[in-house]
Amino acid sequence: MPEGELLTLGLFREADAADFRGRSKLLGRLIDDVKDAGFVAVVGPSGSGKSSLVLAGLVTQLRARGCLVATMTPGDDPIGSFGAALGLLAAGDQAELLSGAALRRPDGIRRSIRAIAANERLVIVIDQLEELWTLSDEDDRRRLVEALAAAVRNGEGQVVATVRADFFDHDSESGNSFQTLS
Ligand SMILES: Nc1ncnc2c1ncn2[C@@H]1O[C@H](COP(=O)(O)OP(=O)(O)OP(=O)(O)O)[C@@H](O)[C@H]1O
Ligand SMILES: [Mg+2]
Repeated sequence: MPEGELLTLGLFREADAADFRGRSKLLGRLIDDVKDAGFVAVVGPSGSGKSSLVLAGLVTQLRARGCLVATMTPGDDPIGSFGAALGLLAAGDQAELLSGAALRRPDGIRRSIRAIAANERLVIVIDQLEELWTLSDEDDRRRLVEALAAAVRNGEGQVVATVRADFFDHDSESGNSFQTLS
């Protein structure tokens, strides 16, 4: 498929960073926000360019600055998605910490973050965070949200998420959980 065609079909991903245009002010603001905050949410209507801004814009800039970046979409198995995302950064026997069973142990998620981040800055990007409420099993959602909130509070990692604005209109439970993370 020609490259140009791919771009017309959907969002910009990291590989399309060179073609990502405009939004430089917004991207600059986002980069500043991510410098200062443990949790940053990019909220907007569907199709407003959240995923493109974060995946093609922010992630590319963070990696260029030497940051470790793990990107995931929760889907119906957020623990599996988290493990796969961190797996791309894992070295040696760190992969053992990322199986579904290991991650579901008490402290499993934070242990994996501490091991992989070690002395480096780790940013976990969750595209379509709302899927934790629309597609995920409740126990896994709780595990992941609580572990990430604790990791953020303790400076072990940062989280950047994209969320559809209309999601806030429908799900009152989400408000509480977002507060936990922020
Ligand atoms: N900076 C940009 N320049 C040109 N086109 C863009 C830009 N950012 C996004 N687009 C285009 O706009 C469309 C929607 O972008 P994107 O998928 O990132 O939105 P979204 O907010 O993540 O939507 P959703 O909530 O449905 O996931 C895509 O077709 C994408 O290629
Ligand atoms: Mg999107």
